[in-house]
Amino acid sequence: MTTRTLKLGANLNGVGNSVSFWRHPDIPGDASVDIEFYKKQARIAEEGKFDLLFIADGLYINEKSNPHFLNRFEPLTLLSALTGATSHIGLVATLSTSYSEPFTVARQFASLDHLSRGRAGWNVVTSPLEGSALNFGKGGHPQHALRYEIAEEHLEVVKGLWDSWEDDAFVRDKASGVFFDPAKLHTLHHKGKHFSVQGPLNIARSRQGHPVIFQAGSSEPGKELAAKSADAVYSGHETFEEARQFYADVKARAAAHGRRPEDILIFPGIGPIVGSTEEEAERKYLEIAELVDIHQALNYLGRYFDHFDFSQFPLDEPFPDIGDLGSNSFRSTTDKIKREAREQGLTLRETAQRASTPRSHFIGTPEQVADQIQKWFEGGAADGFNVRTVVPDGLADFVDHVVPILQRRGLFRTEYESDTLRGNLGLKVPQNRYTLQPENV
Ligand SMILES: Cc1cc2nc3c(=O)[nH]c(=O)nc-3n(C[C@H](O)[C@H](O)[C@H](O)COP(=O)(O)O)c2cc1C
Repeated sequence: MTTRTLKLGANLNGVGNSVSFWRHPDIPGDASVDIEFYKKQARIAEEGKFDLLFIADGLYINEKSNPHFLNRFEPLTLLSALTGATSHIGLVATLSTSYSEPFTVARQFASLDHLSRGRAGWNVVTSPLEGSALNFGKGGHPQHALRYEIAEEHLEVVKGLWDSWEDDAFVRDKASGVFFDPAKLHTLHHKGKHFSVQGPLNIARSRQGHPVIFQAGSSEPGKELAAKSADAVYSGHETFEEARQFYADVKARAAAHGRRPEDILIFPGIGPIVGSTEEEAERKYLEIAELVDIHQALNYLGRYFDHFDFSQFPLDEPFPDIGDLGSNSFRSTTDKIKREAREQGLTLRETAQRASTPRSHFIGTPEQVADQIQKWFEGGAADGFNVRTVVPDGLADFVDHVVPILQRRGLFRTEYESDTLRGNLGLKVPQNRYTLQPENV
């Protein structure tokens, strides 16, 4: 008997990652900037006992970007607003280590963690798009390897700052006038290759010690960063076999860092499409796929390759040889697109259509979708899933029809175990580094 239970995240993304989702009559065109839309989705996810809400992000747009990317909320601000509309669900915001200062990041996530009484999480990303550098007055976009080097130091500094105060440091004794115990205040004094941060942080640890660390990025250095420092990984594998290999790889790397398999949870992203029959589910998919024209699909594909212009190539010939292109942006994703096009002999048109409107492997009746989830969860491909909305009412359909099946099968909770994100994910509260190693105090 295993007590391991499935984890679920709701990846909320307004008018969606699909290029033409916003045109569907049942999708409000302003969903990406409508707080009421997000509140409603958050409540649906919480009624479904989801572990967390997940907000992706980016730092550069141009006129070819997806509608959702053109006009959307900044994740930490959005999740702060959702704190009051929810009570148990975790709140995970994406924020880039390539374009932020550790002190600000540590402070903002600690604040969200206190505001939500222990429900905050940070999805650590390194920013794929070159254009991001233009928005931050930096010389140029750091190369892939350098981005990960920066990320590792950034994350270490943030974690160090989060330990500035021991948990019982604030005495607040009105009679004696002692507000805090100076022996329980720690100054980081970090001087590294990329950051110089003295500390201490001007906010205490929350109930979960540190906000939960997610990491998204599946290249070699991405997996290493996750294995060493993350509590969870958001991945983008579409097939069971790919997901299983990734899962085994990350868990083995984590073990090499002295961590247990349950210390790092793998969440593939999925876009389930549920119908009362297989035909209905298929129809829902086609309703979205048919809204996308090929120019939009080429733009969508091009964004992964740093907004490369694919319209210069013939549509119905094999996917062009573009060499190394993409390796400094969404590397793991562009490697996969190129590999699949080559191995499966896809044309440019097919590759663009597949990228812009992927046909989910989690499509069909509620039982069929639940079967797939169970297969991945029990077959060593996932600890949980980050559920994207790819058809109108996709999240509500999943909560109403798939979640009850998962609950009946004993795979998923019927009530929250905890009111912190760590508690629900079964993750340990990290001990303060200064109480862990008294000789370093
Ligand atoms: C599943 C997945 C989700 C991602 N989500 C984001 C995101 O929301 N924002 C972002 O800037 N980068 C995101 N990234 C990109 C990575 O953080 C990273 O910037 C880039 O892809 C290079 O990482 P990789 O080659 O290790 O995958 C994501 C990557 C993957 C694989």
